[in-house]
Amino acid sequence: MKILSVASEIFPLIKTGGLADVVGAMPSAVHPHGFAVTTLIPAYGAILEKLGKGTILHQYDDLFGISARLMRHKVGELDIIALHAPFLYERDGGPYVDTLGNDWRDNAVRFAALSKAASDIAGGICKSYLPDIVHAHDWQAALSCVYMKFGNERAQKTPSVLTIHNIAFQGKFSGEMFGILQLPSEVYRMDGVEYYGDISFLKGGIAKAHAITTVSPTYSREILQSEFGMGMEGIIQAREAQTHGILNGIDDDIWNPETDDLIEKNYHSKSLIDRKFNKRKIEAIFNLKRAANPIFCVISRLTWQKGMDVFMEALPDIINSGSRVAVLGAGEAYIEDRLKNLAREFSGKLGIYIGYDEKLSHLLQAGADGILIPSRFEPCGLTQLYGLKYGCVPIVARTGGLADTIIDANEAAMEANVATGFQFNKVTYHEILRAVNRAIPLYHDKRKWAQIQRNGMKADFSWKKSGEKYAEIYKSLVK
Ligand code: ADP
Ligand code: GLC
Repeated sequence: MKILSVASEIFPLIKTGGLADVVGAMPSAVHPHGFAVTTLIPAYGAILEKLGKGTILHQYDDLFGISARLMRHKVGELDIIALHAPFLYERDGGPYVDTLGNDWRDNAVRFAALSKAASDIAGGICKSYLPDIVHAHDWQAALSCVYMKFGNERAQKTPSVLTIHNIAFQGKFSGEMFGILQLPSEVYRMDGVEYYGDISFLKGGIAKAHAITTVSPTYSREILQSEFGMGMEGIIQAREAQTHGILNGIDDDIWNPETDDLIEKNYHSKSLIDRKFNKRKIEAIFNLKRAANPIFCVISRLTWQKGMDVFMEALPDIINSGSRVAVLGAGEAYIEDRLKNLAREFSGKLGIYIGYDEKLSHLLQAGADGILIPSRFEPCGLTQLYGLKYGCVPIVARTGGLADTIIDANEAAMEANVATGFQFNKVTYHEILRAVNRAIPLYHDKRKWAQIQRNGMKADFSWKKSGEKYAEIYKSLVK
């Protein structure tokens, strides 16, 4: 059975966040269940070299007025179809923003084109490849489900799945843009892409997909409420029966302290002592003074979603409570600037690296004692899962996937020896600080801390269970 996965990112080709990791891992997660995944992505300029030569599947003379082609590529184990449209995708900057961080002004066309291509493929435009199901990820691919509804008979008959990785990003554009999408006017309605006079790609996908998934059970319930639904709660409620929460897994080939070649020293749950070599390396890179206290790390987009504004207010007291902190992240300028100032003020105790660095993210998980994740909402979150696997104890807000994956070190959990981290309720200065102040004394109780680390390392968040759940959904759709 053939699945066409449609996404704007895939690891290891292009990554700005967890979406890429998940899209990159999904093919091997569902493969054991009889599903062969090919992933359709835009051929961004930055990935052309990694894509290699490829073979042509289809040439468009006019895809939204431009010439484009669909090419098949093999990248490691991944089967890729790339939409080569130099005018849309070959530019300096990121997948969504220019070099100054502003959204590309033609994002509507850039991702409508990706979705239109997905629908065309479902309709049989490529002679040698015809998928049985189309699986679209996030707003950038959501319109696939809409184009398919209005495509040829074959496309209309092909089931579609939409996975919402983050409902806060909705692909909203001015209603005046509707004309360029080349969709029938009946789609510009409340049960289509229309959204308070504007258009939303994500909403269109939610309305038209045969099945909807999101990346944790708790988040699938949260988005039914206005506090988390970000205006989409009504349409999610209308489609509740078709909506499923499936936790993300982690890719053991990439995230495994026993084999990871991006870290200083490999280790396993019985040689936790070896983590110290990684810790020493972190101290060197982040200019942290040697001390007997824990290092807590942050690996995150520096944004409101991730609670980074509150975190940095609490940072001086987190450090004063007896810890050192290493931050790896990039994001909003005011947060970056404040962190830089704090790093000067707390030199030796706070180290920051502003930017994106895959290797450093592995080292931090392998050597820091805990990872702080004070997210206001978190559809799933991957860094706490990597933390568990690496014995880097997660200290997290109790929301979304963070609520589903971490067992708080309360007395009962410690007694039963099942605790894997620390949770707190509200993302406030006091709550973050209280959680850190619960963790620090336990860190100094070496036996108990190792117990928490080992429980986390034992926890199974591999793709096995989640792959099975996606496979069940696929099967239900092709019956
Ligand atoms: P989100 O996708 O919302 O940003 P996730 O926790 O799902 O959050 O995934 C984030 C991914 O991006 C993880 O793989 C994490 O290690 C990585 N990451 C985030 N910030 C950085 C950074 N500055 N450098 C390297 N990796 C990062
Ligand atoms: C989004 C979410 C994150 C999730 C990731 C992968 O970026 O913010 O919580 O882990 O997608 O599904």
